Amino acid sequence: MNVIILAAGQGKRMHSDLPKVLHPLAGKPLLGHVLDTARKIGAEKICVVYGYGGEQVRNALNAPDIAWALQEPQLGTGHAVLQGMPFAVPSAPTLILYGDVPLIRASTLHRLIEAAGTGSLALLTAHLDNPRGYGRIVRVDDRVTRIVEEKDADGAERAIREINTGILVAPTAALARWLPGLSKRNAQGEYYLTDIVAMAVAESMSVVTVHPDAVWETEGINSKTQLATLERVHQRNIAAQLMEAGVTLADPARIDVRGHLGCGRDVGIDVNCVFEGRVELADRVSIGAHCLLKNCRIGNGARIAPFCHIEDAIVGPDSIVGPYARLRPGTELGRDVHIGNFVEVKNSSIADHSKANHLAYVGDATIGSRVNLGAGTITCNYDGANKFRTVIEDDVFIGSDTQLVAPVTVGRGATLGAGTTLTKDAPPDQLTVSRAKQTSIPGWKRPTKNANPKKKV
Ligand code: UD1
Ligand code: MG
Repeated sequence: MNVIILAAGQGKRMHSDLPKVLHPLAGKPLLGHVLDTARKIGAEKICVVYGYGGEQVRNALNAPDIAWALQEPQLGTGHAVLQGMPFAVPSAPTLILYGDVPLIRASTLHRLIEAAGTGSLALLTAHLDNPRGYGRIVRVDDRVTRIVEEKDADGAERAIREINTGILVAPTAALARWLPGLSKRNAQGEYYLTDIVAMAVAESMSVVTVHPDAVWETEGINSKTQLATLERVHQRNIAAQLMEAGVTLADPARIDVRGHLGCGRDVGIDVNCVFEGRVELADRVSIGAHCLLKNCRIGNGARIAPFCHIEDAIVGPDSIVGPYARLRPGTELGRDVHIGNFVEVKNSSIADHSKANHLAYVGDATIGSRVNLGAGTITCNYDGANKFRTVIEDDVFIGSDTQLVAPVTVGRGATLGAGTTLTKDAPPDQLTVSRAKQTSIPGWKRPTKNANPKKKV
């Protein structure tokens, strides 16, 4: 199977400097979705016809299985396919896809490919209540005779509701024969790919049609409104799949998955959560409202309370995170770790049963088991030029408002008094405290307001 993806158009109606096919849907460029579907149906080599935004498109999506064909200038869909022909193997049929039709499904393409066999032209068509703008499928006695573009159609043709989605499969040798013969004597002065249908009919080749399972599969994106519409369709589909697999969603209309979300059994997700990259939620995980999770793994039974931001992190089983916690890249929490509100963790490991429940910064630290970090504990990991590690061994208790000036180690079982600024290692099993001695002044009087205050001398 040869696959040619048309992606040279500018996308004027996006009103954007970004080439249309690079606009993201569910966090992935439109063209990326089409490429992935082409790979799913087993395409070994995919030809992308590119033009507008040239190198930017290539650089964003380049891969060894893509052959890039530059179309410059863009003279129409027929001219676009012609640019891709040198990459097509003549013995296998050619599938034409559009880079701005992102949600086409492999199952529909399989049916189209099957219908084409080796010697037929197969068109993916749909019946629309409002066919405006599309090419119409003209039939005589039920047989397709040609496609007429909206701009070239007369009143009767415009009334036809069967439209050309643009996606088709053609025998490659015939395609190579037809394309150079296209003419641009039409309303748009373009080489229309759709004119190959009449050419096939003239050669008595069979022209068959297949319909998509769902109309949204063949919807193209020309504007930000259409982009948002298809984004919702896609998210609704993902939500449906998650629920089919047993995930509880508080509201399937309020979840966004921009990548892969894997879920175990009895996972619950509250409203307005965003999942990016690869996220794995193990059995019985619950995610509170308004969380953003990116590239992370959450262990069995762990609970993420509302308003957490978690990126490139691992949360161990039965841990509790949030509300309002931030786990930055390189965070690894063990089993039953508690990270509370306004706690930030970065590039640190925190072992089993340890807690940082309030207002702390843990950066570049290795923290043992059963450690208690008091409210306001700060690792001072950065001297303005370099970063250093803090090591806190098992069973340590850190009093509130403590600064640990790295590099520094707190020995096993040590206690740091509240307010300590630790600049040297703290020995195990001892109380270490750095604090000005507390004094009280007997007979001291609080100043009172004076009607005629005298200036102090
Ligand atoms: C095309 C079809 C029309 C169909 C509609 C479905 C033709 C002549 N018409 O019309 O029958 O109903 O799609 O959406 O084929 N492209 C290039 N190079 C070009 C021109 C287009 O790569 O020179 C690409 C575009 O980037 C886009 C696709 O081909 O991905 C379709 O082009 P577009 O201009 O949208 O075609 P339509 O006029 O909508
Ligand atoms: Mg179009």
